[in-house]
Amino acid sequence: MNMGNMAKITLKTLQKKAENEIKNSKNLKDLDSVYKKYLDKQGELSQILRSLNKMPKTKRIKLGKEANELKQVLKENIEQKTKKLKEKTFKQAYEKEWIDVTMPGKKPVLGHLHPLTQVKREVERIFQLMGFSIIEGPEIETAWYNFDVLNIPKDHPARDLWDTFYLKNGMLLRTHTSPVQVRYMEKNNPPLRIIVPGRIFRHEATDANHEFNFYHVEGLMIDRNISAANFRAVLQEFYREFFKKPVKIRMRPSYFPFVVPGFEVDMSCTVCLGKGCATCGRTGWQEMMGAGMVHPSVLKNAGFNPKNWQGFAFGMGLERLAMMKYRINDIRLFYKGDLRFLKQF
Ligand code: FA5
Repeated sequence: MNMGNMAKITLKTLQKKAENEIKNSKNLKDLDSVYKKYLDKQGELSQILRSLNKMPKTKRIKLGKEANELKQVLKENIEQKTKKLKEKTFKQAYEKEWIDVTMPGKKPVLGHLHPLTQVKREVERIFQLMGFSIIEGPEIETAWYNFDVLNIPKDHPARDLWDTFYLKNGMLLRTHTSPVQVRYMEKNNPPLRIIVPGRIFRHEATDANHEFNFYHVEGLMIDRNISAANFRAVLQEFYREFFKKPVKIRMRPSYFPFVVPGFEVDMSCTVCLGKGCATCGRTGWQEMMGAGMVHPSVLKNAGFNPKNWQGFAFGMGLERLAMMKYRINDIRLFYKGDLRFLKQF
């Protein structure tokens, strides 16, 4: 704005214009622009004040007084409007962000333990009550511990029963938790009582009763004068506590190279109530575990004198235990991740 134009604008017009703009400011930013436009060093009012120098004295004093008064009025107007706008912003934020602390909260959706984990923990609890410790071993194993040390040398036909996945470095995925028996016996002196829950692998086809990746719970008890009768007593106590109702079991002779004598334990199938179905291979009996008295040469391999120490060992399938407890007819359900199945536990 040049000096000529400026002279034409009376303070009254400027006041009207500025007050109008202050009134219409919607936020602090608008208001700041109004301040800059009129009251800053380069603002219109400041320029009028500067231009007074060139006016005659009487006019200068009169206009100067009026201009300073107007400056004061505009500043006050801006201050009041600032206050109002701040109050408005605070009120809006308060209304928007207000929280009713008495409202019921949103419940987060919580998952739960997988049925196999639940069953594993229950098995651990029961065996701990009977004085067994819980031990772990490696899932990637050497052929020595998985086979040789358990009386299954290279070319022994039993290696076919437990075919597995071999790694390029000569190691393999363990086919049972039995290697941990020897690993533990090598480092600990008898008497001992352990269980070894763990994941195992087999190179075999799946069906309602078989997986290629499943869980075993190995058991081992070594002491003086231990017999198969002790095994039966421990087993009966375990089943009584686990199933909380009488279950029908049978023990039949079987062969495992690392026990003598060896046996297998079957349970009357709870899915078909003993009638015979796909889950139990139409026999009415579900095979629950392999077991037997630890072979003297396994004890020797571990550095124990078989004349002084005996014991029993067993290896039970964890999935089969869960299947019998909850009457699950297909083992593959455990690994499908289908929530309709999992939510039932
Ligand atoms: C063994 O693996 C022996 N190590 C058990 C043992 C331990 C015997 C100690 C003597 C002394 P077996 O291959 O039978 O045995 O497996 C044991 C149990 O695992 C079976 O009785 C069955 O309940 C379960 N099982 C076996 N194969 C499968 C499979 N493919 N899927 C699911 N469960 C299985």
